[in-house]
Amino acid sequence: MIKLTGLTKRYPGRSVTANAVDGIDLEIPEGKLVTLLGPSGCGKTTTLRLIAGLERADRGVIEIGGQVVSDPEHRIFVGTHRRPIGIVFQSYAIWPHMTVIDNVMFPLRVNRPRPKKSAARETAMQALDLVGLADFAERPAPAQSGGQQQRVALARALVREPKVLLLDEPLSNLDKGLRGRMRDEIRAVQQRLGITTVFVTHDQDEALAVSDEVVVMNGGHVIEQGLPQAIYTYPQDMFTARFLGVSNSLDGVVDSVGPDGATVTLGSRSMVCRQSGTAQPGERVSVFMRPESFRLSRRQHSEDAWPGTIEFSIYHGDCWDYHVRLDDDLLKVRVYQEKVGLAHGDSIFLEPDPDSAIVISGDKQEAEQTPEEASPADAVARTR
Ligand SMILES: Nc1ncnc2c1ncn2[C@@H]1O[C@H](COP(=O)(O)OP(=O)(O)OP(=O)(O)O)[C@@H](O)[C@H]1O
Ligand SMILES: [Mg+2]
Repeated sequence: MIKLTGLTKRYPGRSVTANAVDGIDLEIPEGKLVTLLGPSGCGKTTTLRLIAGLERADRGVIEIGGQVVSDPEHRIFVGTHRRPIGIVFQSYAIWPHMTVIDNVMFPLRVNRPRPKKSAARETAMQALDLVGLADFAERPAPAQSGGQQQRVALARALVREPKVLLLDEPLSNLDKGLRGRMRDEIRAVQQRLGITTVFVTHDQDEALAVSDEVVVMNGGHVIEQGLPQAIYTYPQDMFTARFLGVSNSLDGVVDSVGPDGATVTLGSRSMVCRQSGTAQPGERVSVFMRPESFRLSRRQHSEDAWPGTIEFSIYHGDCWDYHVRLDDDLLKVRVYQEKVGLAHGDSIFLEPDPDSAIVISGDKQEAEQTPEEASPADAVARTR
């Protein structure tokens, strides 16, 4: 297990308010793959480098497998080479003048006592076998594709049988198809070895796909932590909702709370939200809805349907995104079946799905930085 308590890091020359990592408390369970997910600059790499001992913390405690490896207050700092970790970076950082096997053997040669060359070779071959590269052992390292080089880096990280594997955006230099395959391979190896792994990415799909747990970060803080399905389906925080592509939000007030959930008044409309958490009558809330959480029809099938007009549509091949105006709000609605002939100005009705509504209390919303403020590039969260 990895345990971080009050972990804080400020880079020299930056103002006190600009802690790269700002009092992080986090537990990463034994044998699990936990992803740090967040926009550029939120402190993911810094957190990973602190765990690896490549940076020194200003405050807080880092424990790996029950051993304190960093605690500035008690002058404890265990160096990188003495921490039970293997690390893979975004740039593979393999040595171009060596063969594949020599790259993978390298970490063993700095072990004390140094193992015999034949024993080191055998261990390295096992690591290469694990990543499917045993047949490529004698090749020069640069004579490999990007995916193969990244697998060499993974084998090298695993060769000393570390307790912890740290992966900093290991797939971001690969093209899309290879990315998916490597992602699956990493997950397979991680599960086979049962190795505690911290995986850093700013790609939400990747995070949801590989993780036992996802930790959402912003501005050096942990925003929330949970199972991928929980974080995706019912984010507890506005930042997470936006970062995971929940593009529709409507402000309202809780009218009543009953066994079926909360009835929320949203301007001239109202809706029932089944998963309303701790919302209380009179509370100001935002209701977040994914684009696919509505039924769109020309006719009014239910009293609860909201009248609106089509602004414009975007065709994606397998679905349409309709941008629908409801008074002052513009909602994005995704429709998978063919809807012929809906065009600008057409009147339609929208039925929101009460099970898919994400209700976030008003007081959770003020302090947080929105993804737009955090990073324009990442804020263009893809719509699901
Ligand atoms: N060596 C450094 N010196 C000064 N500031 C740094 C240094 N490294 C990172 N920072 C700053 O610390 C903050 C966190 O950076 P970090 O690299 O941890 O972010 P990140 O979440 O990994 O981002 P990305 O997704 O872009 O890799 C940023 O504001 C960054 O500018
Ligand atoms: Mg980074």
